[in-house]
Amino acid sequence: MNINDKSNPTPYVPTPQRYQEMQYNRCGNSGVLLPKISLGLWHNFGFYDSFENARNILKKAFDLGITHLDLANNYGPPYGSAEENFGRILKKDFANYRDELFIASKAGYDMWPGPYGNHGSKKYLVASLDQSLQRMGLDYVDVFYHHRPDTETPLEETMAALDLMVRQGKTLYIGLSNYSHEETLNAHKILKDLGTPCLIHQSKYSMFERSREKTLFPTLLNEKIGSIVFSPLAQGMLTDKYIDGIPANSRAGKDKTYLQTDTVTQNLEKIKQLHELAVSRGQKLSQMAIAWILTQPAITSVLVGASSPEQLQENIKATENTLFSEEELAKIDQILS
Ligand SMILES: NC(=O)c1ccc[n+]([C@@H]2O[C@H](COP(=O)([O-])OP(=O)(O)OC[C@H]3O[C@@H](n4cnc5c(N)ncnc54)[C@H](OP(=O)(O)O)[C@@H]3O)[C@@H](O)[C@H]2O)c1
Repeated sequence: MNINDKSNPTPYVPTPQRYQEMQYNRCGNSGVLLPKISLGLWHNFGFYDSFENARNILKKAFDLGITHLDLANNYGPPYGSAEENFGRILKKDFANYRDELFIASKAGYDMWPGPYGNHGSKKYLVASLDQSLQRMGLDYVDVFYHHRPDTETPLEETMAALDLMVRQGKTLYIGLSNYSHEETLNAHKILKDLGTPCLIHQSKYSMFERSREKTLFPTLLNEKIGSIVFSPLAQGMLTDKYIDGIPANSRAGKDKTYLQTDTVTQNLEKIKQLHELAVSRGQKLSQMAIAWILTQPAITSVLVGASSPEQLQENIKATENTLFSEEELAKIDQILS
């Protein structure tokens, strides 16, 4: 895609109204404000996707006030290609707006062959961030995450690597992803002692995945760590797209790795009932699913994915109605139980 791509040569001029609608939350006990809705580049930004579509999604995001963009070393496919495409788009369209963006990357999963391309060693993490910066054409990222806990590497080593990156000026803040509440507490203690507190925690959370509610979220609130949650739409299941079957161009229809058609089928009855409730609130199911997450006091930002600018435009309207009656919340619990 990259080489033969006929990119739109028209220069991008962001809308001057881009900060009028979006609301921003303080991230933990920090100076950073994050939009209530952020954009992830896990899917739809790799070499096998349309570069122009990726570019249009990013322009739409920025026009809507979405300043926070979430990447990782292995997003693509192939690995690294989302960062490389993002770097090209940054150069083409956002060169004058770097300081209006809050850009994340991560390392922690399989990235390159051999013993140094995975998990949580200082050797892997430091090299991976250098590679990410090169792919994106950046001097630094705004936040760098350890993508998942690694029980084999001493936590002290992984945290020291994150601290080192901040001291080297390669990332401004650091974050933890997929750490349990206990792992988060242990890591945060080490980080505070090093003088580099954890800015933010990233975990999976949606109406279909609520395991973090009871322990992790109270911990993040207590420790004043920001909380951003991924797959809020359960990869598209919490929208109206699967109600009449599996569209060929959907994540379940075309990419059978991350969202299985069986999973969609098993959840279909709940999806239909939630859809009905959303309609009664005057919302799309996607909007209700995001609004419901925003009722959690621990949440700083909801990290959505999108395969088109129109999806983002739809999802952003979630912030227009985040009030739920007791009856509606009880009904949601009943449908999900
Ligand atoms: N830290 C981690 O371990 C981790 C893990 C996973 C994700 N993440 C981050 O979280 C981000 C979001 O994850 P996700 O993509 O799974 O989030 P998601 O918001 O639950 O799912 C996004 C997908 O749902 C569909 N969709 C979105 N809005 C829609 C709408 N209005 N109508 C119909 N379909 C709609 C689209 O898929 P289709 O149109 O293609 O069907 C879109 O790509 C990722 O990009 C990544 O940055 C982090």
